[in-house]
Order: sequence, then structure tokens, then C-alpha cells
Amino acid sequence: MIIRVATAADTQFADLLCQWYVESAKTRGTGIAKREPAYVAQKMASGDSIIAFVDGELAGFCYIETFDDKTFVVNSGLVVNAAIRKHGVGRAIKQGVFDLSRLKYPQAKIFGITTSLAVMKINTDLGYEPVTFSELTASEDFWKGCKSCKNYSILMDNDRKLCLCTGMLYDAADKLVQVQIPDFNTVASQLDSPNSAS
Ligand SMILES: CC(C)(COP(=O)(O)OP(=O)(O)OC[C@H]1O[C@@H](n2cnc3c(N)ncnc32)[C@H](O)[C@@H]1OP(=O)(O)O)[C@@H](O)C(=O)NCCC(=O)NCCS
Repeated sequence: MIIRVATAADTQFADLLCQWYVESAKTRGTGIAKREPAYVAQKMASGDSIIAFVDGELAGFCYIETFDDKTFVVNSGLVVNAAIRKHGVGRAIKQGVFDLSRLKYPQAKIFGITTSLAVMKINTDLGYEPVTFSELTASEDFWKGCKSCKNYSILMDNDRKLCLCTGMLYDAADKLVQVQIPDFNTVASQLDSPNSAS
């Protein structure tokens, strides 16, 4: 398997990837946003996506979007060729796009919304945590991406506060918090000592 940053030379695969998005949405019968080939091609050309090949054939893809002046990053549009799913390709691509996001946007919070159990498992292993939509970007640009999802009316009926997707967030700042745990043996012996102040 080859996992690498996509380049302008990969734009030849944009049409096929968009067909996979449409087919996946039909098969799952649930929310997967539609993407245009020109948008996918732009992500490839700007160095904001990861592409995978197995035995020389296109195997999968995922891209990065930024919001709120790059304080939020989304790893979006994860898709794997239906013929080779459940063999670790999705996990490998997601790891690649996560690493690329951390490299290019180290200060950003990385988030996603998903109905996919596979994606929830992968995100959890990467350190994401489930959150309410209030913790995610309020950017119109992000939420308008849901317009092509069949559940969009549910999202809007709930003032964009909840929908069928689960919000998941990786906050690098949270990971830096060091918790100081006291040495309970020392504390206990100090309390037991007859000379200890009361
Ligand atoms: C979601 C998707 C990218 C996963 O790709 P994949 O190559 O099959 O995933 P992996 O083989 O790396 O599996 C990753 C984990 O998810 C699990 N998994 C995969 N497919 C699953 C499914 N349909 N249901 C439940 N778990 C699943 C795997 O068992 C694995 O977990 P484990 O490591 O604990 O065993 C792929 O199914 C896909 O392209 N689906 C259509 C598009 C889509 O739904 N994209 C996500 C939009 S948010």
C-alpha cells in the first residue's frame, strides 16, 4: 500500500473519487456530503489531501479543510474503494491525513462529524473525543457542506445544535495538560506522624 500527500498529478482521479462518494451515500442511505471533482482536484493541487494506492490502483482518499482562520481543521471526505474495505486502508489514510494536519496546522483543533462506526473507532484511537456540535466551528462555510446530505433538514430543525452525526474533536491543547497526582503514601505518613501539625 502506498499512502502519500496527493499532488496536482493526481487530479485525474477526482472524477472516480466523486463517483465513490455518490455510491457510498446510496449504499449507506445516510449522510455523506456530495463533492465536486473540481473541489477534490483543488485539494490535491494544494497539498491538503492524502491519497492511497494498492497494487498500483487507486485505493482511497481524504482531505483537509480549515475554518475560523485555521483554528479548526476537518479531515473530510474519507473514502476507500468498496472492493478493499475492512483491510486497514481507511485507518492508514486517516492516520496520514491526521499527521499532515498536525504538521501543517499544529495549533488547530481537529474535528469531524460522522455516522460511520469505522470512522468513530479510528478517530477514538487517534485521540478524538465525542463532543456536542457547540464545541465545533460555527463557520457557515463548514455547515453549508451538509446541504447535500439527506439529513440536512434535521440539522436545521435543531438550529444546527444536533443531527444524526456524532461530533468528534481532537484538541492538541488538552493533550498538553499535565495532571499532578500527589504521592498519597507521603501524604498519609505525614498525617499519621505525631509531630504533624493539626
Ligand atoms: C469508512 C471507510 C473509509 C473505512 O475504510 P476501511 O478501509 O474499511 O477501514 P479499516 O479497514 O481501516 O477499518 C478501521 C476500523 O473500522 C472497523 N470497520 C470498518 N468498516 C466497518 C463497518 N462497516 N462497521 C463497523 N466497523 C467497521 C474495522 O473493523 C476497523 O476497526 P478495528 O481496527 O478495531 O478492527 C470505508 O468503509 C468507506 O469508504 N465507506 C464509505 C465512505 C464513508 O462512509 N466515509 C466516511 C464518511 S464520515
